[in-house]
Amino acid sequence: MNKLEYAEFIEIIKKKSGINLVSIDYTRISRLVNEREKISGCKSFHEYIKYLGSGSAENEWEELLQKITISETYFFRDTSQCNALKDYILPRLIKFKKDKKIRVWSAGCSTGEEAYTIAIILNQRISDIKSWDIRITGTDINRKSIETARNGFYGKNSFRGVDDEIIDRYFIKKDRRLGPKGFIKRDVQFEIFNMKIGEKKFFPSNYMNFDIIFCRNVLVYFEKKDASNILKGFNNSLLHKGYLVLGHSEASLAARDLFTPVRTKDTFIYVPIKIMPSDKRPNKPEISGRSKLKPGIKQKSVNNKSINLDKRIHVKNTVEPVISLRNVNISYVKEALSLYFNEKYMQAGEKMDNFLAYSNAGTEELLLASLISINLGDFGKALSLVRQIRQKDEFLPDSHFIYGLIHENGKNYEKAIRAYKAALFLDSDYFFSYFRLGHLYHKTNRKIDSARAFRTALTLIGRQDDERVRLLSGGFTKKNLEDICRKVMK
Ligand SMILES: C[S@@+](CC[C@H](N)C(=O)[O-])C[C@H]1O[C@@H](n2cnc3c(N)ncnc32)[C@H](O)[C@@H]1O
Repeated sequence: MNKLEYAEFIEIIKKKSGINLVSIDYTRISRLVNEREKISGCKSFHEYIKYLGSGSAENEWEELLQKITISETYFFRDTSQCNALKDYILPRLIKFKKDKKIRVWSAGCSTGEEAYTIAIILNQRISDIKSWDIRITGTDINRKSIETARNGFYGKNSFRGVDDEIIDRYFIKKDRRLGPKGFIKRDVQFEIFNMKIGEKKFFPSNYMNFDIIFCRNVLVYFEKKDASNILKGFNNSLLHKGYLVLGHSEASLAARDLFTPVRTKDTFIYVPIKIMPSDKRPNKPEISGRSKLKPGIKQKSVNNKSINLDKRIHVKNTVEPVISLRNVNISYVKEALSLYFNEKYMQAGEKMDNFLAYSNAGTEELLLASLISINLGDFGKALSLVRQIRQKDEFLPDSHFIYGLIHENGKNYEKAIRAYKAALFLDSDYFFSYFRLGHLYHKTNRKIDSARAFRTALTLIGRQDDERVRLLSGGFTKKNLEDICRKVMK
């Protein structure tokens, strides 16, 4: 197979499975194709390709894909993600799943270790598991892998780093191999399934209504477009309060308009942003509430204005189902705000994550979420939130202010100064910019500029809204800020 033929072959595989072979695979794939050509009685590469496209080569496709796919996997792969399931996802599901039913999809499960690991963790975490209806479905395109998964016995390689205690408790031995015990196996089923789906297509109805989808180390081998179609499918297949777990290198694939990343102890998981079916949407969904506050007027972040979260909470909606959803969600924002003011940033962050997962947040809610992230030291998330604010309203000075804080943290003082000035360009009375500029100039030995900035800040502080000051300054009162200005100016 020459390089041109290889390029043709890459396209055929992509079309069939979504897998994007790359140039480093050339030698391996070339050898494989030569071998498959001979076995299937084809005389040339082109004859073989024609055969694959003939519609009567399903068995050959199976053999070929088995050899192409990378099926590396093992039990309890990635401790941080296993802990996220155990300590974050399950406690929440246990609390709200009144029907005591949990459905999990291990998509691209390979030989099944991931699906059985999930079953074991569920057993560890759910004390009354016998009264729950659990089903874990493992799927893979590779028939041989699914056969191994169904058989459920594994060699040493699948148990890298698994504690003896777990092995004793959850596995039995057979012919020097280990397999999950009956009470684990009972909840797990395996199916052959090619999860490549087209644009605007969803998964079939038997792949719907999942509480959790694990799809780790699969999409990384896919063409971006195919990965993105699959992620849209996952969004649709997950229940409203569901969770998606991706491999670490796949994080960037989860588009922010489909999933909200939630930071658990030491990893990220994703909650779907469910889009209401269009027939259930009100004519004008009252989600952001913003236009109701100031109809027709571009709402500027003026200093003597409160952030108005409260006002928004009382905005009335005429469409019942949305009101109830909105009310539940808006209470998250209220609680998050109160936790934020009490410096309980972790809990505040969780509330906002929940809110963002189920609502189309407006700029003010995104602003609150970004300030919480900053206080948690999660500047990456703050940046992603501030970009969302910018997308909604590029003229909002607050977003430039947050950019400034992020640059300050990265010690990019010049960029921070530019961002604070950009906020002033949009609102020449933007107190918070003068306040931070005063500090930055002081830090960079521009004493005269610093004094001037603080002086201007002092002239503006009287007009500030108390709550807004506390929000944007991370809890300081007007009096605190006034004292700081005077002290640094001395
Ligand atoms: C590296 S394994 C990942 C196994 C497991 N999820 C883990 O993280 O340990 C990737 C799996 O994705 C499967 N796969 C690749 N393309 C697929 C497709 N289009 N549909 C379903 N599974 C696919 C492969 O067969 C392989 O078993």
